[in-house]
Amino acid sequence: MQEAFIVSAVRTPVGKKNGSLSQFRADELLGIVLREVVNRVGVDPALVDDVVGGTVTQVGEQGFTLPRMGVLAAGFPDDTPGVAINRQCGSSLTALSFAAAEIVAGWRDCSIACGCEIMSKYGIAAEWLNLTLSNGKPAGMPIGPAYLNRTGGKFVDQGQAAELIAMKWEIQKDELDSFSMRSHQRAHRAQTEGRFDREIIPIRVSAADGQEKILDRDETVRPETSMEALAGLKPVFGTKMMTAGNSSPISDGASAVLLMSADMVKKLGVKPRARIVTSAVAGADPVMMLTGPIPATAKVMKKSGLNMLDFDRIEINEAFASVPLAWGREYQPDWEKVNPNGGAIALGHPVGNSGCRLVVTCLHELERIQGKYGLITLCTGGGMAPAVIIERV
Ligand SMILES: CC(C)(COP(=O)(O)OP(=O)(O)OC[C@H]1O[C@@H](n2cnc3c(N)ncnc32)[C@H](O)[C@@H]1OP(=O)(O)O)[C@@H](O)C(=O)NCCC(=O)NCCS
Repeated sequence: MQEAFIVSAVRTPVGKKNGSLSQFRADELLGIVLREVVNRVGVDPALVDDVVGGTVTQVGEQGFTLPRMGVLAAGFPDDTPGVAINRQCGSSLTALSFAAAEIVAGWRDCSIACGCEIMSKYGIAAEWLNLTLSNGKPAGMPIGPAYLNRTGGKFVDQGQAAELIAMKWEIQKDELDSFSMRSHQRAHRAQTEGRFDREIIPIRVSAADGQEKILDRDETVRPETSMEALAGLKPVFGTKMMTAGNSSPISDGASAVLLMSADMVKKLGVKPRARIVTSAVAGADPVMMLTGPIPATAKVMKKSGLNMLDFDRIEINEAFASVPLAWGREYQPDWEKVNPNGGAIALGHPVGNSGCRLVVTCLHELERIQGKYGLITLCTGGGMAPAVIIERV
């Protein structure tokens, strides 16, 4: 067995809905992070055995194995392959887990894990909504009777599932809102203190007035967020408590992590930054859908022999505020260590990109505080969750 190490990790800023990154083709945006993740450590892309990437809505520019198209856009050699992984919002964390596992198995020496999603162009379910068969008839819904029989024939969407979670764990609306306000405050503090500067690739974009500008900050952060403003937002998804303020916003982005075996690290003389300790994946109730991080955390802790007190930093994806809050009810974490630079409510959640983005952010934060262990986990559509532990070295 080989150890798998992270040697480089970068991301784009997160673009807001119809914002600066929505003008990019998905392959071009992914190409930017692929190029940069090898360039930053002076690694020849010809050494990359595979590019394993997460994207949820694999249609249009995001179809046709986006990581392979990203390889071509990055100017990598033609013999660099790519593969697209889909585990809903857990796609790129699963991509990282698979890429690391192939290194651990000794089958690869150098792989890139990545994620990319431009939700401004390809909304959730765009790959099947209004899709027709070649004979013109409706292509059908991916949600079948095994699910619908549990719910009386009704599909419970993510926002509704988030409210079911709040009800089950007795989380009130003002707790959802104060968690969300804190996410924006933390993200704003991180931006102000330059905590994201090392991980973000500044990107040249066209501004609304046609002039070029450099985008080097996440566009989704709203520093002015107040409890009064959040309380005044209309509920969405047909719920009573879920609003645009306590949900992650539609957003765009890409990220990449360069992984190497111990042998390759030694051969190239590059500096390893973190070791992939282990990973786990869990299934959970498909109707409540977003509770997966609770069993995934238990599984990955058991596998690693670590416990909650061992983690210096935890990134749990803020798909909706009720998700980390319910997880917190179960684990009673030190909240100063959880999403310390804000989470998806403030920083956006380009679904297929988020797992890899959280790893990039967790690594840089561990480096900033000279911490050791980081835990990363996300809930996913369909009721699952991957979890990964990294150790700064
Ligand atoms: C919740 C959701 C439907 C809102 O969509 P939207 O209405 O287009 O969202 P917007 O960002 O335009 O915000 C709506 C309003 O809330 C306001 N708002 C949002 N966040 C706010 C904040 N933190 N403080 C104050 N106001 C805020 C906006 O200013 C906007 O007001 P306006 O209409 O007066 O301009 C959408 O973001 C969504 O679907 N999120 C979940 C995505 C998802 O399911 N991801 C997968 C998870 S598993």
